[in-house]
Amino acid sequence: STHCFTYDPGFTSTAACESKITYIDGDAGVLLHRGYPIEQLAEHGSFLETCYLLLYGDLPTHAQHADFESRVYRHTMVHEQMAKFFTGYRRDAHPMAIMVGNVGALAAFYHDSLDITDPHQRMVASIRMISKMPTIAAMAYKYTIGQPFVYPTNSLDYTSNFLKMCFSIPCEEYKVNPVLARALDRIFILHADHEQNASTSTVRLAGSSGANPFACIAAGIACLWGPAHGGANEAALQMLQEIGTVDRIPHFVARAKDKNDPFRLMGFGHRVYKNYDPRAKIMQHTCHEVLATLGIKDDPLLDVAVELERIALHDEYFIEKKLYPNIDFYSGITLKAMGFPTSMFTVLFALARTVGWIAQWKEMIEDPHQKIGRPRQLYTGAPQRPYVLLDDRA
Ligand code: SDX
Repeated sequence: STHCFTYDPGFTSTAACESKITYIDGDAGVLLHRGYPIEQLAEHGSFLETCYLLLYGDLPTHAQHADFESRVYRHTMVHEQMAKFFTGYRRDAHPMAIMVGNVGALAAFYHDSLDITDPHQRMVASIRMISKMPTIAAMAYKYTIGQPFVYPTNSLDYTSNFLKMCFSIPCEEYKVNPVLARALDRIFILHADHEQNASTSTVRLAGSSGANPFACIAAGIACLWGPAHGGANEAALQMLQEIGTVDRIPHFVARAKDKNDPFRLMGFGHRVYKNYDPRAKIMQHTCHEVLATLGIKDDPLLDVAVELERIALHDEYFIEKKLYPNIDFYSGITLKAMGFPTSMFTVLFALARTVGWIAQWKEMIEDPHQKIGRPRQLYTGAPQRPYVLLDDRA
């Protein structure tokens, strides 16, 4: 197994876990899922195959893939009562707020997959999460744009089904663009798992208390929402829009280097990768492929992104601090071109990362030596002192 250690800055303590799922070599820019390089999974595989790989540990045979697919498709609908939840949200609610609420609420419906000590219930909960995330995500999107919910179409592949639930309307025929579906499926593969990142660690910590899997995934969604983590894809696009034109790039690069300026280049840098994020390269290629498919010749945001990357990678600040584009740098341009609003970018990240969260949760729960997580601290507060009565205080 691959040891994973997280060093708390300023601490000598380490919080360590063992995992067989994902291996990252940050200096070499290597990412493996169960030993398979991300580049090969993205080129040859499908997202549903990656789900099987992360959950079961190896690539499926034809029969295993067919069986897994039929089990996933059995759960693509959500309880009809869940549709009523949406009437309580404001139309301008951020879809991530809806995802946190609705995914946590799955525990209020599926009482037959809450007992984490039962292997069958653990597997049903895992499949349910993978099945229902696209449906709930599409419902969140439809609600915020005031369109009717679209039920899953199980005759479509996983990602085409999601695209149809998002972009089809009852009064018109909808045909999935196979090139866009393949591109989005590849984007889901890139986001599926990433070792012990902040949201996965949140899911593991929540799960270590014995909380049910739906509550743990909701905790992961909440953590992913932050702009330093999964929210960076939304923030990176907003940054590119704020920069606007290539001539304004030097001003923003100077701000990113200024210690007194909180501005950061969103989509740049990574705690582990001190080389190019291998996913970012595939993401950039996919971005060009999607824009070409859609006949978008000159996307000013892409021009800004490509020039910003060129300038940053030749700037001594970024070179010295080993800051490279990460997966969030090009994803926003791609998703925007596909028709998703910026508010849906992190929802798509959460949809894809659900399989990583649930695979890591399952691995932890099934570890016979697993105990509740309990991070320690270095106390830097006041020394012990006697109580002072109110009248005696200055
Ligand atoms: C994801 O962990 C994962 O695996 C996450 C993820 C996954 O798949 O789960 O990969 C997904 O979250 C990718 C990261 C998305 N976030 C962003 O793009 C936001 C912008 N990036 C920064 O906020 C930052 O790079 C972080 C939060 C990602 C990492 O921050 P760290 O841990 O502080 O990075 P570091 O220790 O390598 O920083 C070294 C230096 C620091 O300066 P000094 O303290 O040495 O003076 O570089 C600076 C940082 O301040 N720095 C940046 C910068 N990122 C780091 N300076 C300007 N712009 C940036 N983007």
